[in-house]
Amino acid sequence: MSVRLSNIGKRYGATRALNGVDLTLTGGRVHALVGENGAGKSTCLGIIGGRTVPSTGEIELDGERVTFASPAHAASNGVVSIYQELSVIPSMSVLHNVFLGSEPRRTRWTDDSAAMRTAYAQVASRIGADIDPDVEVGSLSVGDQQMVEIMRALSRRPRVMLMDEPTAALGPRERQALYGVIAGLRDEGVVVAFVSHNLEEVLGVSDDISVFRDGELCGSGPSDQWSRDSLMSAMIGHPPQVDLRGTSASPKPRKELLRVDGLSGGRVEDVSLDVRAGEIVGIAGLVGSGRSTLLRLIAGAQRPTTGRWQLDGVKQPWPSSVRSARRQGIVYLTEDRKAQGILPESTTAENIVLGRLGPVARRGIVTRRSVRDHADVAGRQVGFATTRLSTNIGALSGGNQQKALLARVLHAKPRLILADEPTRGVDVGAKDEISRALRDIADRGGSVMMVSSEYEELAENCDRVLVMWHGTVVAELRGPDIGVDTMVKLSFGTEGLT
Ligand SMILES: Nc1ncnc2c1ncn2[C@@H]1O[C@H](COP(=O)(O)OP(=O)(O)OP(=O)(O)O)[C@@H](O)[C@H]1O
Ligand SMILES: [Mg+2]
Repeated sequence: MSVRLSNIGKRYGATRALNGVDLTLTGGRVHALVGENGAGKSTCLGIIGGRTVPSTGEIELDGERVTFASPAHAASNGVVSIYQELSVIPSMSVLHNVFLGSEPRRTRWTDDSAAMRTAYAQVASRIGADIDPDVEVGSLSVGDQQMVEIMRALSRRPRVMLMDEPTAALGPRERQALYGVIAGLRDEGVVVAFVSHNLEEVLGVSDDISVFRDGELCGSGPSDQWSRDSLMSAMIGHPPQVDLRGTSASPKPRKELLRVDGLSGGRVEDVSLDVRAGEIVGIAGLVGSGRSTLLRLIAGAQRPTTGRWQLDGVKQPWPSSVRSARRQGIVYLTEDRKAQGILPESTTAENIVLGRLGPVARRGIVTRRSVRDHADVAGRQVGFATTRLSTNIGALSGGNQQKALLARVLHAKPRLILADEPTRGVDVGAKDEISRALRDIADRGGSVMMVSSEYEELAENCDRVLVMWHGTVVAELRGPDIGVDTMVKLSFGTEGLT
């Protein structure tokens, strides 16, 4: 099995998303595509998978020229995609999401046939997923939704598997399971293409690596010929700058900002915690441990069954909505970009300043110029390229959308940021800038609570980390005690105590 791209290009108006790409993907090898946000990785996979029509070039499957009219057409030829943005249907059951629409000719699933359930059990055990097939997908965490997406792709028996950032939403356990599945596909001779911003993961998982920069393929070769540094240099076009930032001792935590007592709701059971001004608090835990629910409850996005709330030492009613929490200066960034309320047809600059127009208006008038200036200030803090501010946010690559949403949060100048996976899908360079921006907020007395599946990120950024397990906080780590191995071990709760 092989896929060959010759001179593949894609234009969107004046944007050259992809230009003159020649690339061969070989069966039995895992091929990683890396590059900064907006480099063209998703466009490339979209073209192979029948989602995007190329402007130039040809694709050959086993030496035969193909043009796919749609993803379904590609899938019927064995070319199956897992998209960067989830494409599951929230109102349908897990079972139906996995099987409906797949293999329409070869199998005749009746609605809930025993065959379908047997097949589900098989695919679930292959990837080690413990997800009830009868629940609505919309009620699952984003991580579990990602697992459903992966199961659906696997159930289509791919000969070519295109995976766009499949691990970004997964916790450590699910990631390991996926690596196993990828190795299994490789051994079966499947062509596997894989996109990730985690370079250690890329080096560990893949056999070949291709680097994209500004829509062009700027390097390709076997993984053992690449290192983290050489990948970074190829991605950004020059050797990475040495970071001379000292690891500034984090400032002494100050006054208590928020205190939550006896909080229960959804998966979360009886959690008490506080956040102080100037502090970055991380939340670690496996997918399903209650991390995201905890943030949602504090953000006012989900009603708690019980819980007491105290802001600046004063008891207050629990915020009834995200808006009412926002009025208190608490801003929530969900892990689901689609649910974040972007205006896809408006410019990125407009989307960034949307939440706080006050300072943007001059004598009551909001000019394009002042929108741009304010958006630029916020955008720079998260490594967002100024040149993209006038692009409609809907046309940005996934990682650039995430940066824009973070810029919007920063522009709102909140007292407390509740961020669920803030750097998901963001390239390595911008991750550093975002870390710096968060530290900057803390240095100025603001506070951050963040959930991340990347424990390295928690270890680098946080003053304190709460580890969750089965809806409760089972450990609290501070300063030097915050280590990746410790967090992993604690995340497994009693399962980790052997
Ligand atoms: N529908 C579209 N309309 C206009 N421009 C688009 C569209 N889709 C992608 N682009 C542009 O094409 C370029 C490549 O985007 P692509 O999504 O392939 O990047 P990527 O490498 O996958 O980035 P990321 O790491 O952020 O996911 C970007 O400049 C993007 O803004
Ligand atoms: Mg992408």
